[in-house]
Amino acid sequence: MSETICHCMGVSRDEIVSTIKEKHLKTVAQVGEETDAGTGCGGCQPEIQAILDEVNG
Ligand code: FES
Repeated sequence: MSETICHCMGVSRDEIVSTIKEKHLKTVAQVGEETDAGTGCGGCQPEIQAILDEVNG
């Protein structure tokens, strides 16, 4: 189990990374639609952006 990125929705880094890869996501909003990450307080959105940058190069 990898680190939890979104504590509001309980979404892990692994889940975010694999969903970005599977569905070719490009934006924080898309990650929210697919995983619910970032759709609570919004505090994790910069981290989601960092993961997007990392995965999409
Ligand atoms: S920690 Fe992700 S929306 Fe609050």
